Amino acid sequence: MTQPPVISHPVAPRESAILGLGVYRPSRIVPNSEVVEAIDSSDEWIQQRSGIKQRRWATPDETIEMMSQAAAEQAIAQAGISGEQIDCVIVATLSYMLNTPAAAAKIAFELGTKHAAAFDISAACAGFSYALAVGSDLVRAGSARYALVIGVERLSDVTDPTDRGTAFIFADGAGAVVVGPSDTVGVGPVVWGSDGEQFDLIRQREDWRDVIGTPEQPGSGRMPHLVMHGNPVFRWASFAMAKVALEALDRAGVSVDDLDLFVPHQANMRITDAMARSMKLPEHVRIARDIAEQGNTSAASIPLALDRLIRDGEAKSGDLALFIAFGAGLAYAAQVVRIP
Ligand code: COA
Repeated sequence: MTQPPVISHPVAPRESAILGLGVYRPSRIVPNSEVVEAIDSSDEWIQQRSGIKQRRWATPDETIEMMSQAAAEQAIAQAGISGEQIDCVIVATLSYMLNTPAAAAKIAFELGTKHAAAFDISAACAGFSYALAVGSDLVRAGSARYALVIGVERLSDVTDPTDRGTAFIFADGAGAVVVGPSDTVGVGPVVWGSDGEQFDLIRQREDWRDVIGTPEQPGSGRMPHLVMHGNPVFRWASFAMAKVALEALDRAGVSVDDLDLFVPHQANMRITDAMARSMKLPEHVRIARDIAEQGNTSAASIPLALDRLIRDGEAKSGDLALFIAFGAGLAYAAQVVRIP
């Protein structure tokens, strides 16, 4: 009897690590004084409730593609490879205005990859950690040698400047990392999930069909902005996410004492503080607080926050960091990483 052909998989499993980091911060700085009038707020209120002093909003030229490319070029250079060597491009974003094709395909082309696999991930503020987990596992399994992971947003396009609950929070920017093969574990196991029961807590206000309408039922004709029930999101993030973060440490076999850096999604300074307290982070762990200058950039916030720690001399190559990202969905993901 003839045996069925055996499927071969020539690449042996290997470890993965972040090899390079790059970011793009839009040129236009927007202080709280510029947003307060439209929402009847004050610089003091915004700083006290969110820790935000200013944010950056992209100019028309600072597109999703342009910001991604700028961040990616730095990450590729730091990794010491060329664009041609990238096998896979993953873009996490909620603010790319084309449903299809993926932004990743255009960015892969602009970076000079040789027809890299390219796709976008929709996991909102959890997007960077989701994409990093996928990119890392593709490298580990041999499906890609070098994966480029990008988190990028133009949230100013999808934020209602008169909405008191969101107008002062959301911002724009991009961050990218190159993930590649490594002799040691550079990206720990991901702890991730979602809670679709709370789907409506942060969402695009309406779907595109309701914007456009039908001959019988005219649409709103307005941009479907992000809407958020801030208070329940705040409570969920402050308490449930610390448990997820501790689980990621546990899965990676490290303790809070082993950590050098805590780089949470920059949602709100008070959420960061509540998580750090709840996790009992020791004093020596440096905590990313980029939100003060950058606002909440959703999928871009973790690489941007890490970049600031490095620039400020608070993080260095070889440091052990805990990433945790969370937001609409309610999706979340956490992993321990070694800084390149
Ligand atoms: N400026 C000034 N006052 C405001 C305001 C604003 N932008 N927004 C609300 N207020 C007022 C309210 O009217 C209310 O006043 P009252 O007590 O006199 O009735 C008071 O502030 C509290 O309102 P509330 O909506 O309960 O605010 P809050 O304490 O929950 O703070 C957020 C609002 C948005 C800062 C907070 O909920 C938050 O940060 N949530 C998480 C957001 C987040 O991180 N999202 C991203 C997740 S990825």
